Amino acid sequence: RYGLNTKNLGQTIYYQESIDSTQKKAHQLAYDNCPEGTLVIAEEQTSGRGRMTRSWHSPKYSGIWMSIILRPNLPPQQAPQFTLLAAVAVVQALEEVCGLNPEIKWPNDILINGKKVTGILTELQAESDKINSIIIGIGMNVNSKQEDFPEELQKIATSVAIEKGKIVSRSSIIQKILEKLELYYHLYMEKGFGPIKLLWEGYAISIGREIIARTITGTIEGKAIGITNDGVLKIEDSSGRIHEIYSADIEIQGN
Ligand code: BTN
Repeated sequence: RYGLNTKNLGQTIYYQESIDSTQKKAHQLAYDNCPEGTLVIAEEQTSGRGRMTRSWHSPKYSGIWMSIILRPNLPPQQAPQFTLLAAVAVVQALEEVCGLNPEIKWPNDILINGKKVTGILTELQAESDKINSIIIGIGMNVNSKQEDFPEELQKIATSVAIEKGKIVSRSSIIQKILEKLELYYHLYMEKGFGPIKLLWEGYAISIGREIIARTITGTIEGKAIGITNDGVLKIEDSSGRIHEIYSADIEIQGN
């Protein structure tokens, strides 16, 4: 906290050793009108939430489990762009603090050597046609050892320590993520999504590849041809039809 160079982000902190979910707590605080930039962070989550109603493994001391509340004066349709904005902030924090080279799998998985190190969950509280709060949840495996992951995550998850071969300080990564988030939040509010989209595309692995997208309503196969200005994924299927995907699990073919 003392080395944190931000104006708003993380300047109000709600910290708990153990919590059910920082995301759930952040929703309550946002509803009660907490200041913008409030950070909810815990050493452990007993029921961490992932995307698409999955759970998120959040054991004590071994990761960064946090949620940040933003209040941009924007229409709700622009909220998905904040997932991509947060992904860029996380990637750059891992580059600068840890010397790692992570990649982004649309919309929000951060991978190192093909394995997931961080997940991002962006949620929204909106009133009529205005965003009330955007809640950005970030879960990063930092000091977990490979054998700490449950069986079903063994092949798909990694941690910063596994990739670096040594234990890493969580606080320096947290500070850098908050600083980057604030930087890109301001850039976004001044210049729009364009510059963020460019940065994001520089880290993205799914674009230009043959993918399978599993959505709640069905599966679409085709080539990921890019993202729209809203951050929506465009897929061209074999008949040349373009699909716009708002939320899905992506499998990249031919890995
Ligand atoms: C994903 O499914 O990839 C998103 C995972 C998001 C996990 C984080 S950990 C902090 C915050 N609190 C939660 O309950 N979930 C998010």
